[in-house]
Amino acid sequence: MPTVVDRGLEGVVVGSTKLSNVEGTVGRLTYRGFDIDDLAPSATFEEIVHLLLYGHLPNRTELETLKRELGSRRSLPEPLISAMQNVPKTAWPMDVLRTIVSGLGLFSPVNARGEHLSDVHTAIELVAKTPTIVAAWDRIRRGLDAVEPRADLSQASNFLYMRSGKMPHAIEADALDTYFVLLADHSYNASTFAARVTASTRADLYASVTAALATLQGDLHGGAATASFRALTEVGDPENAEGYVREALARNERIMGMGHREYKVRDPRARHLEAMAKKLSEQEGNSRWYEIASRLEDASRKVLQEKKPDNTIYANVDFYTAPVLADLGIPGDEFTCLFACGRIAGWTGHILEQLADNRLIRPQATYDGPPPGPFVPIEKRDVNGARN
Ligand code: COA
Repeated sequence: MPTVVDRGLEGVVVGSTKLSNVEGTVGRLTYRGFDIDDLAPSATFEEIVHLLLYGHLPNRTELETLKRELGSRRSLPEPLISAMQNVPKTAWPMDVLRTIVSGLGLFSPVNARGEHLSDVHTAIELVAKTPTIVAAWDRIRRGLDAVEPRADLSQASNFLYMRSGKMPHAIEADALDTYFVLLADHSYNASTFAARVTASTRADLYASVTAALATLQGDLHGGAATASFRALTEVGDPENAEGYVREALARNERIMGMGHREYKVRDPRARHLEAMAKKLSEQEGNSRWYEIASRLEDASRKVLQEKKPDNTIYANVDFYTAPVLADLGIPGDEFTCLFACGRIAGWTGHILEQLADNRLIRPQATYDGPPPGPFVPIEKRDVNGARN
C-alpha cells in the first residue's frame, strides 16, 4: 500500500479525550458534554477548571474548596519576581511567561528521577500562577512593582486587579471571566497536542506546559490575536476595512483571526466574543475597536467570497479577542499570554489525562534525503562536504 503523508495531520485521529469536542462542520464546542453556548453565559472560569480537572461541574462546597486552593497558590516565589526585574524591559511577554512557568519547576520538589509530582494540585498551582506571571511582567516592564495577588478574588478579577492595582469594574471582570471560559479547552489543538506529546515521554506538568506555551506562540495559533489587533490598528478606521482586505490579499497575506483548521462555519466562540466586544466598546466610552473589527469581518467575508464563492473562511476565536482585550486595556503584545491564562485549564487537564493512560506519541516520516552512501573523511571533502 502506498504511504500516505498528512503533512499537517489534517483529519488524522491520533488519540482520544474526554475533555472537549470540536464539531467543525456544525460549529459546536462542548466541554465534557456541556455546550460552550450554555457555559459562556452561565458558568465561571473556576467551574470550568473544576469540570476539566475533576471531570464534573462542582457543587457549592467543591467550588469553594477549589477557589480557596487557587487563591492560596497564586503568589510567585520571590526569585522569579527578581528574575523578571532583571530581564530587558523589551522582552516579549510570551518569552517571559514561558521562561517563568518553566522556572516554577525549580521551586517544586523532585524525586530521585528528577520528576515533579504531576497531580491535580500541581495543575491547580499552574492555573493559579499563570495570570500572576503575566500581570507581574506587565507592571515590571512599565517600571512598576508587581502587585501581590489577592486570594479572595476570581482568576479574572484578580488578574485585572494585579495589573492595575485597582478593583476592576464588574463588566470588565465578567468579560475576562467569559473569555477564559471560552478559551479553556479545544481538543487536540497544536499547543495541547504538544503538551500531550511531551507528557507522553513521561515528562511532568511543568515541562509539558512549557512545551504548550512554546507552541501557542506562533501567529497561526495563539499569536493570531496579537496579529489581529495589529490589523485593527492598521485599518484604523472602519471605512478603510475593505481596502485593507483587498491590499492584504493582493500581497498574498492572510487576514489574521479568520479561518480555522476545524471549523468550516463561524467559530462558535466568536459570537460570544463579538457580543462582549460590542458591550465593552459601549462601556469604554466610544471605543472604535469593535466597530473596526466588525467591518473588517464583513469586508473579509465579502472579498474572500468574491475570490472563491464556496470558501469556508470565517472569524475564529482570535478575531474578536482583539477588541475585547484591547477594551480591557491590555496591550496587544500580551494577548497570547491572556489566551494561555484560559487554556492552562485545558492543557493541564489533557496532560493529566495523557499521563493516566499513556502511550508514547511517536509518529513516522518518509525520508526524502540522499540515498545511503559511504562516509567521506574530512580531508577528502569539497566545499559542499562531498568527496572531491
Ligand atoms: N486569510 C486569507 N486566506 C486564508 C486564511 C486567512 N485568514 N486562512 C486560510 N486562507 C486560505 C489559504 O490561503 C488557502 O488558500 P488556497 O487554497 O487558495 O491556497 C486556503 O484558505 C486554505 O488554507 P490552509 O492554510 O490550508 O488552511 P488551514 O486549515 O491549514 O488553516 C489556519 C487554518 C488557522 C492556519 C488559517 O486559516 C490561517 O492562517 N488563519 C489566520 C491565522 C489565525 O487566525 N490563526 C488562529 C487560528 S484559531
